[in-house]
Amino acid sequence: MSESSRREFLAVSAVAGAAAFVTPRGFGAWQSTDSGAPSKMINIGVIGCGGRGSGAANDTLTANKNVRIVAMADLDTAKAKAARDALKEAHGDRAAVSDERIFGGVDGYQKVIDLKDVDLVILATAPGFRHVHITAAVAAKKHVFAEKPVCVDVAGYHACIAAHEQAAKQGTAIVTGTQYRRQTSFIEGMKRINDGMIGEVVGMTARYCSNGIWYRDRKPGMSDMEYQIYNWMHFIWLSGDQAAEQAVHNIDVIHWVMGGPPERVFASGSRWNRPADSEMWDSVSADFEFPGGKLCSFTGRHWANSESQCDNVVYGSKGIAYLRAFDGGTQITDRAGKELFNVKGNIGAAYRQEHKELVESIVAGKPIVELKQTANSSMMAIMAREAAYSGQVATWDFMVNKSKLDLMPKEIKIPGDAPKPFVRKPGEYRLS
Ligand SMILES: NC(=O)c1ccc[n+]([C@@H]2O[C@H](COP(=O)([O-])OP(=O)(O)OC[C@H]3O[C@@H](n4cnc5c(N)ncnc54)[C@H](O)[C@@H]3O)[C@@H](O)[C@H]2O)c1
Repeated sequence: MSESSRREFLAVSAVAGAAAFVTPRGFGAWQSTDSGAPSKMINIGVIGCGGRGSGAANDTLTANKNVRIVAMADLDTAKAKAARDALKEAHGDRAAVSDERIFGGVDGYQKVIDLKDVDLVILATAPGFRHVHITAAVAAKKHVFAEKPVCVDVAGYHACIAAHEQAAKQGTAIVTGTQYRRQTSFIEGMKRINDGMIGEVVGMTARYCSNGIWYRDRKPGMSDMEYQIYNWMHFIWLSGDQAAEQAVHNIDVIHWVMGGPPERVFASGSRWNRPADSEMWDSVSADFEFPGGKLCSFTGRHWANSESQCDNVVYGSKGIAYLRAFDGGTQITDRAGKELFNVKGNIGAAYRQEHKELVESIVAGKPIVELKQTANSSMMAIMAREAAYSGQVATWDFMVNKSKLDLMPKEIKIPGDAPKPFVRKPGEYRLS
């Protein structure tokens, strides 16, 4: 047996012994040689090559020496090729994807997943497709990086929970794009909260309040389906609305601080200044109730010429922790305002850290599987949205055990029809 196969065999045996399952790609093959150079490159397929897909590809190429992009898919092959060209300029051969390995259309994702040499996929399409792509990637035993949110409805949530369990069993990794979880200022702040610096946590506020979001005008000749996917932010089956698409970052921080999901949510919101065919609301505010009567409030809005605020504030019996968004850093004070702790933030580093930890976990044979955590945070966002749309209180038990909410159209064809857009109105719209 050659040295590399022996190492591969030992690594796989160890995993098999622990989990009674073996990964299809021996972990040992990726371990560094004695010289420190990677003995095998991890081959990545990028699915969804817009702003974040190409950003995530750049992040992993920057963070990891031992990865390369070998295939790409986007509905629009021109976008994938443009992303490839930019990545190739920055990273040379490690992003030299040939045109034959760039796939278009709604089944392009499957063509990337079917490639035997693809080890890991980056999933960064419109969020409505995420659970479908995660399910297919896990079924093919690929490692996954999945952008947030990982689901926009209840059917998607259950698909993610099943995929998490399958990945954990078979020993494949799933890391998600909730970068605050890997931002030093958040990690250091959370450590001090958990160590008791602010006393007992009694509640928190989290906000995602900004001046607006993009809207893409329909191009001549586009069918309804093509147009909705192109302008995906504004259609709930594709984006999940602001609560799921953006606010999930802050809602995930609530989930992190509270250590689990809430019991119920009371929510409200508004809609008056979106373009006529947009299904989005302008704002949503939600009171999440946790065991022990603890209340965590979230406020989100897209209002022009208004105060932007995306911070998280955790209130404790002895102090207050300010977990600030983006590069804002973390500050902790006592109840009188005396500073106890202060650290700067660097969100760019956090975006790269996600990919570093994912790849290191694969190489070490200890794959990170964190989909359930982000599925739960996505579900918290979904339940807040549904409670606001309906004016009803949504319980975790109802959403997870009884709701049948499934927004995905039965057929996705381009050109083709798409669901008729409508704005949900409280009192008329009901939890289902
Ligand atoms: N973690 C973060 O901070 C962060 C930041 C931005 C975006 N995101 C997330 O990344 C995802 C993508 O956002 P974006 O800003 O890159 O959007 P985008 O519109 O720039 O890119 C999405 C791309 O996916 C393609 N696409 C859509 N549906 C597809 C399908 N079924 N198959 C193949 N390709 C498809 C589109 O053609 C487009 O090129 C979203 O889930 C978004 O929430 C995360």
